[in-house]
Amino acid sequence: MSTIILNGKEVANQWEKEIISKVQDLKAKGISVCLAVARFNDDEASKVYVKKKVAMCEKLGIKPILIEEEGLDQVEIEKRVSSLNQNKEVNGIIVQLPLPRGIDKERVLSLISPEKDVDGLNVFSCGLLYKNLPGLRPCTPSGIVRLLKEYKIDLVGKRVVILGRSQLVGLPIFLMLLHENATPTIVHSKTKDLKNICKEADILIVATGKAKMINREYVKKGAVVVDVGISRLDGKIVGDVDFDDVFDVAGYLTPVPGGVGPLTIMSLMSNVIKAASIQSGIKDDLV
Ligand SMILES: NC(=O)c1ccc[n+]([C@@H]2O[C@H](COP(=O)([O-])OP(=O)(O)OC[C@H]3O[C@@H](n4cnc5c(N)ncnc54)[C@H](OP(=O)(O)O)[C@@H]3O)[C@@H](O)[C@H]2O)c1
Repeated sequence: MSTIILNGKEVANQWEKEIISKVQDLKAKGISVCLAVARFNDDEASKVYVKKKVAMCEKLGIKPILIEEEGLDQVEIEKRVSSLNQNKEVNGIIVQLPLPRGIDKERVLSLISPEKDVDGLNVFSCGLLYKNLPGLRPCTPSGIVRLLKEYKIDLVGKRVVILGRSQLVGLPIFLMLLHENATPTIVHSKTKDLKNICKEADILIVATGKAKMINREYVKKGAVVVDVGISRLDGKIVGDVDFDDVFDVAGYLTPVPGGVGPLTIMSLMSNVIKAASIQSGIKDDLV
């Protein structure tokens, strides 16, 4: 059996069409959609990310509001978030991470109204995920689930191994796949016998941020391998999986770039539509 490339770009393009049509449907009902993107750090990568989010909003017909203010203290940042909560035009709020040193991230994220929490990272949204109740889910894990479903990869009863336990990726994807009736295990930097655990996986999801750390020795023949990592190595963007080495062992494999990345931003846009639909009392049927 030859390896199937999980083409995230292609899935994202299809998703984009669905979102554009959803935005148009809402507009036809007199509802406009608006996302506020707030950057309080002076991080160069964050500057690029917020611009990409704003550009994608414009492409899809979502109104972006960009707040870029550096040097604010905790009180001032919280005031900005509270004011976005109160702004009836704003359907979704993103506070770009990381927050500056000394700022209490959890306090800021948890100030975002749950119905506007389109990154799905505040404690209320995490609680909804934990309990498998409807809510706004973290974007990268949602994108991964969408990708697996698009390729009709059966999750029920599957042994899934997730490398990484971050609140952004590892932990939420664990819960989401558990709720899909998979049998997930999380491994991390303190895990013993990591390689053998990975080798048991029907589906291996790698989110460590360690460039090319996963080679063929970690992969069971025919496994689905999802590479979340993004690192720069010798001037090139690479993932956590050594793509060339793993290629002929995996049954399915995501490329980097063009795998999980394009789906993350579409998940975010989908969450904005979901938030706008819920706030205006219209049931959402996306995702
Ligand atoms: N494609 C996308 O849209 C997207 C979105 C988000 C993140 N990312 C990328 O995904 C990667 C992970 O992001 P993150 O935010 O989850 O990172 P993170 O917060 O740094 O977490 C990394 C996790 O990997 C574990 N880990 C690190 N080295 C390991 C090793 N040698 N063996 C086993 N586990 C190891 C860590 O274990 P400990 O907890 O024990 O330290 C930690 O749980 C990064 O490259 C990031 O840029 C991509």
